[in-house]
Amino acid sequence: MCGIIGYIGKQSDPRVGLEALKRLEYRGYDSAGMAYYDPGTKKISSEKAVGRVSLLEEKLGARKLVGAPFIFHTRWATHGVPSKKNAHPHVDCTGDFYIVHNGIVENYRELKQWLNEQDSGTHEFKSETDTEVLAHLVEYFYKENLLEAVQQTLNMVRGTYGIAVISSRAPDELVAARLGSPLLIGVGQDGYFVSSDPSGVLAHTKQVVYLEDNEIVKLTSSDMKVLSKDTVKLPKVEEIEWDLEEAQKGGYEHFMLKETMEQPESIESTFRGRLVPDEGNVKLGGLELVADKLKDIKKIHIVACGTAYYAGMIGKYMLEEYAGIPVEVDLGSEFRYRKPILNKKQTAFLCISQSGETADTLASLKEAKMKGVLTLGIVNVVGSTIARETDAGIYNHAGPEIGVASTKAFTSQLTALALLTVFLGRQRNMSLTAGKEITEEIKKLPKLVKEILDDADKIKKLAQKYKGYPNMFYLGRKYNYPVAMEGALKIKEVSYMHAESYAGGEMKHGPIALIDKNFPTFAIMPRDSVFEKMMSNMEEIKARSGPIIIMTTKGNNSANSLTEDLVYIPETIEMLSPILSVIPLQLFAYHVGVMRGLNVDKPRNLAKSVTVE
Ligand code: M6R
Repeated sequence: MCGIIGYIGKQSDPRVGLEALKRLEYRGYDSAGMAYYDPGTKKISSEKAVGRVSLLEEKLGARKLVGAPFIFHTRWATHGVPSKKNAHPHVDCTGDFYIVHNGIVENYRELKQWLNEQDSGTHEFKSETDTEVLAHLVEYFYKENLLEAVQQTLNMVRGTYGIAVISSRAPDELVAARLGSPLLIGVGQDGYFVSSDPSGVLAHTKQVVYLEDNEIVKLTSSDMKVLSKDTVKLPKVEEIEWDLEEAQKGGYEHFMLKETMEQPESIESTFRGRLVPDEGNVKLGGLELVADKLKDIKKIHIVACGTAYYAGMIGKYMLEEYAGIPVEVDLGSEFRYRKPILNKKQTAFLCISQSGETADTLASLKEAKMKGVLTLGIVNVVGSTIARETDAGIYNHAGPEIGVASTKAFTSQLTALALLTVFLGRQRNMSLTAGKEITEEIKKLPKLVKEILDDADKIKKLAQKYKGYPNMFYLGRKYNYPVAMEGALKIKEVSYMHAESYAGGEMKHGPIALIDKNFPTFAIMPRDSVFEKMMSNMEEIKARSGPIIIMTTKGNNSANSLTEDLVYIPETIEMLSPILSVIPLQLFAYHVGVMRGLNVDKPRNLAKSVTVE
């Protein structure tokens, strides 16, 4: 899960790559590096830095850089610690072939051995990475044709890759390829870009070609040749919908805060043009082609990771209660290694993913496809692999989410799940009245979310009060149990506070042993069908002197005797309450993280898009 930028064309200032690379830092940021062909020396020059792209920029300093093609890389370590020698680009023995790679070469040890058997042990590997062997293989295979050498190299690889390769022996070419790691070509006015995602090329062009798995492309300044398994393919140029501005902070100190605050708009974008309240129904263009098949579905299998998995858990409550369809929810990393029983004709397999590139979710999708079930996606990134690989789906339209901690993608995923619930429910037994009520309530969400955000200062004060505690419990029941899980994940990610989440009823089965005056609890308990149960759970915590923050519905005073730390959310129907209740938890985590002096947008050890398993 690294970021790749490449360029070939008339521009001869490699620094262009720095700006593009900064936009990919969310993919990993433990080292950065670049290489470019210098026509003066007829050699490739390279520079690397451990840490962020700005450190690479500092290293390059005022040095005069002239030349192209060039490649850039920002790394999220998989093999070998973050260090200069492990930073990309990697180079062969001759110094002629440079490569940047995103993915994992699973058989890199075998390949090193094989190579040294061929070349009598002459290859010297300088890094601990899986990638370096690729540069040496290209060197080995090179016979006056870079494309062929890269093809032969990739034929030997087991694993995943998005790569870009340049060589001083073929300075008029840049070769890129993908298998399992995202890569696109930006079609600029004066040349071609290579990038891991659209944000890397947006400053230069909106015209892109998404590479598919097993495709390799040879770029020159004026030509692009795409090969799919040895067959030349006509590249399909598509237009990126997002503006560069959208992908920037818009005046907020952090992307996480910006993305939290823009939830009224992102939720509205998710349901815009899709509600038909008069008919108590929704219109989902992305499902039209499979609408008939969906009528026969008897079970839904949801697979996702992290925050998207919690959205899936809430989706289970929604779909079972209102559409009457049994739902199973799995983590991608678990599903792919068990023997799931999927009934080909009666199961729909639903992937939820913001990035659409999460390796475990994608691998599960491939497994489901092999079993022949109908596959669906709820995906934010248009053109991403999961979006393209599923039979049908619902795009979130939440806009780019840059902060590593997912915020607006979660509420948008829940909104999409609510739409799906109405869609499937109305195909079955959901009454017109129920359909009308849900669609009317969905329509109100942006206004209700805004009400919570307008009161954000109160959450900041609570963050001030609780920021010093080392531990915290997050509790909820039913629809708000996964919200508690999401709240705990959020605070762990951005503030490094240890937090655990439980279904309220589970406390007495063990965790309550931890409660004392130093172990606070954040209880998510809107006035709903399980409110009274949560009240009893809170009494038990209070009786053991545990500090409590209670989030409940505006106008509900029943919890006042338990704590003075109360957070209110507006009233909505139970199934939509997570869309509101998660927002104070996002703000709380954000402020605790900032107050602890942390970089909430790029927490340590994390990356935005987890494209390795
Ligand atoms: O792009 P995806 O939605 O597939 O990503 C899944 C998880 O990696 C992601 O939600 C992760 O848990 C976030 N860091 C949570 O804030």
